[in-house]
Amino acid sequence: MKGIILAGGKGTRLRPITFTGAKQLVPVANKPVLFYAIEDLVDAGIVDIGIVVPSDFPMGREQIMAAVGDGSTFGARVTYIEQDAPRGLAHAVGICQAFVGMDKFVVFLGDNFIREGIAEQARAFRDGAMNTILLLHRVPDPSGLGVAVVQDGRVVELQEKPPVPKSDLAIVGIYFLDHHFFEAAQGLKPSARGELEITDALSKLIAMGCDVRPEMVTGYWIDTGKHIDMLDANRLILDTLETRIDGTVDADSHVSGRVVIEAGARLVRSTVRGPAIIGAGTVLTDTFIGPFTAIGDGCAITSSEIAHSIVLDSSRIENIEERIEDSLIGRNVDLRKAATRPRGHKFLLGDNSSLELR
Ligand code: DAU
Repeated sequence: MKGIILAGGKGTRLRPITFTGAKQLVPVANKPVLFYAIEDLVDAGIVDIGIVVPSDFPMGREQIMAAVGDGSTFGARVTYIEQDAPRGLAHAVGICQAFVGMDKFVVFLGDNFIREGIAEQARAFRDGAMNTILLLHRVPDPSGLGVAVVQDGRVVELQEKPPVPKSDLAIVGIYFLDHHFFEAAQGLKPSARGELEITDALSKLIAMGCDVRPEMVTGYWIDTGKHIDMLDANRLILDTLETRIDGTVDADSHVSGRVVIEAGARLVRSTVRGPAIIGAGTVLTDTFIGPFTAIGDGCAITSSEIAHSIVLDSSRIENIEERIEDSLIGRNVDLRKAATRPRGHKFLLGDNSSLELR
């Protein structure tokens, strides 16, 4: 069985972070979300992995290729497949036909995150006679997602982002497929949003009489496309951390709960209340880091409070009196308090931003 990870697209919903980087590389608990997908595939015994990268976004493509390399650090063999433009998920999978050949395969959307991995479903698909397994997750309002209708243990109908969903079963961005998919993807017409939809190809599979089975995901599943979803995924992973203190914590600092302090990080008169992770070389001075916070490498945070947030590498935050929360702060952000102040800040700042509050 082969694996395909879709890491094309432009990540418009995560701008400005994605102006300067691939959305699949935004870190969850200081590890790019894409890495979790690769690890899930390898854990399921799928080591031949094709990653679809965007040739119309060279910066994103290069960053992904540099971060993943040939896949050997993950125990995988990675092949890169270039997509000329974000023409839709069915197009992105379609261009992988030569890579897949006649093997069974699993498509993993590079921004999807699933808590308990896919090993069990991969085993069922490898051994089973069905053509497709779709992972489904019950959500209160699936109108912003793909939606499935299930009858007698089969998927019988699919909708893509329907204003009036026919069920509460959202389609998770992990699809177990066989070569019939490529036949179904032929001759699709672009949808109203101008994309070749994977949901339309799957509907054709059903119409062709293929055996499409549902598999419920009961644990956590997150589509990390928006900043609030990233924070949710961050919270989940941080909650599973094992405490490890490789950096230095001075006598006036306190660490409690599940906390990782990476090598070269320093706490000076600061408190970190976990679950939280502090990246390598980061210096916290007179600072409080609250639960569910991931601070990247090489940051300097002074006289500030941060909780339930993600701060990417090399950012500097100084003298922000009001607590920063629910925030996603990019790389090289410079955030300082000026002499006068409004209270109650909420930040979504892109890489290289510089914000001075007055
Ligand atoms: O997250 C699950 C949902 O994913 C499903 O419920 C929907 O049925 C499915 O259509 C998809 O919806 P999204 O609108 O969330 O897909 P998005 O455009 O965010 O793309 C998902 C991933 O695929 C993302 O990592 C970018 C990549 N991609 C996207 C497009 C449109 C490509 O590699 N190439 C593309 O052409």
